[in-house]
Amino acid sequence: MGDRETASDTIDDIWSEYYHRGLDYDAIKALLDNFYNEDMHYESGRILGSMYTVPPSVVREAFFKFYQANLGNPGLYPGTRKMERKVVEFLMGLTHGKDNYYGRVVSGGTEANIIAIWAAREMGYKKIYTTEDVHFSVIKAAHLLRMPVEYVPMKEYVMDPDALNETLVDDSIVVATAGTTPLGYVDPIDKIGEVCKDYRCYLHVDAAFGGFVLPFLKKKINFGFEVPEVKSITIDPHKMGMAPYPAGGIVSRENIFSSIAVDAPYLIEGYSDTLLGTRQSGSVAASYAAILYFGAEGYRKIVENCMENTYYLANRAEEEGFEILTRPLLNIVNIIVDNPNRVKLALLNMGWAVSTNPKYSSIRIVVMPHVKKGVIEEFLKDMKKIDTHFL
Ligand SMILES: Cc1ncc(COP(=O)(O)O)c(C=O)c1O
Repeated sequence: MGDRETASDTIDDIWSEYYHRGLDYDAIKALLDNFYNEDMHYESGRILGSMYTVPPSVVREAFFKFYQANLGNPGLYPGTRKMERKVVEFLMGLTHGKDNYYGRVVSGGTEANIIAIWAAREMGYKKIYTTEDVHFSVIKAAHLLRMPVEYVPMKEYVMDPDALNETLVDDSIVVATAGTTPLGYVDPIDKIGEVCKDYRCYLHVDAAFGGFVLPFLKKKINFGFEVPEVKSITIDPHKMGMAPYPAGGIVSRENIFSSIAVDAPYLIEGYSDTLLGTRQSGSVAASYAAILYFGAEGYRKIVENCMENTYYLANRAEEEGFEILTRPLLNIVNIIVDNPNRVKLALLNMGWAVSTNPKYSSIRIVVMPHVKKGVIEEFLKDMKKIDTHFL
C-alpha cells in the first residue's frame, strides 16, 4: 500500500506541475514507459483469459498508418472504405454468405451484437430468446433497448432447441452463440433454425470468437448463412482474426444497417448507420492486412496450432491431477476449482491472468497463439503450488 501511495503521489506531483505548461518529449516517453511497464502484455504469454493476441508487425504498421481514418465519416476515407468492403467480403466467406456483402467493421463484438438487436427491434421484433451463457453484450442490448429476455434451458452446455420450441412466440429475436464465452461451445444453429422456421423470428448468431475458428476445424459445424433462417452474424477480426482492436464484425443477409440509420448532415454522406459516431478505423486497415498476410491457409494453421495446444493443456492438466470441466470444442479449457475467484487472484499474484466461470466453478483459459506449450508447462507448475481446493 505504501508503495502505491508513493507512486501515485509522484504521478500527481508531475501532473500538477506540468499539465498546464507542458513537458518535453523525452520526459513524456520516460513516463509512458513507466505506465507501460505496469501493464500486462500479450508477448509475455501470461494473459490466459483473453481472446486477443499479438498481431504481426505488418498488421500493427497498417493500424498506425491509418490511425486517422474514421469510417464514422466514410466520405473522407474512400480508401479505407474499400478495405472495409474486402474485410466484410472475407467475413461473408467464412460465414457462407453468398452475393450479399452487407457488413461493417465496428468497435467489437459488443457493438456488433447491439447493432443486430437494435436493427431487429426496428423491424418489429420484440423479445429476445437466448441462453444463460450468452455474452453480456446481448443483455446490455436488452437493457438499452428495453427488451425482455427469456433464457432458454440448456442441454449439454448449449441451447436446447426443443425447449426453445416450447416457449418461442412470433416477433422474437433468437440469439444463438457459436463459440460461447465461458466454454467455447456452439449452440445447435441448424436445429435452432428449424425451430425458427415456424415463427416470425430474427435469428442472430454471435460468432464473435468462433467465427474465425469453426471454418478451420476438421469437423464441419454449420453456424452461418448456410442455415437459411440466420439473418445476421457477429464475427470479430480482433479475436481469432489476429487484428488489433477495435475490430468487431457484423454481417447480415439483408441490409440491416438502413433500419438503424439516422440523419447526420454534418458528415459528408449525411447519415450514420452504426452505433458509434467516430469509428477508429486504423483497425480496418489492420484487419485487411491481417487477412492478406495470413490468408485462409494461415488462419487454418493458427487454428490447428491453437487446438493442438488446447488438447495439450487439457491432457497435461489432467495428468497433473486437475479436473477438466468439458472436452474442449474450440480453444478454451475450463479447469474445475473450488473457489474460482480466489484461484484467479492467487494466479494474478504469480503474474498469470486467467478468467473465471463462477457458474461452472472453473477457471477458464483461452488458448490463443501466445499460449504455447512452454507457457502451459510454466502455468501448470504454478497452478500446482496453489491449493485449489482449500483457498
Ligand atoms: C461470444 C462473444 N460475443 C461478444 C463478445 C464481445 O466482444 P467485445 O469484447 O469485442 O466487445 C465476446 C467477448 O469475449 C464474446 O466472447
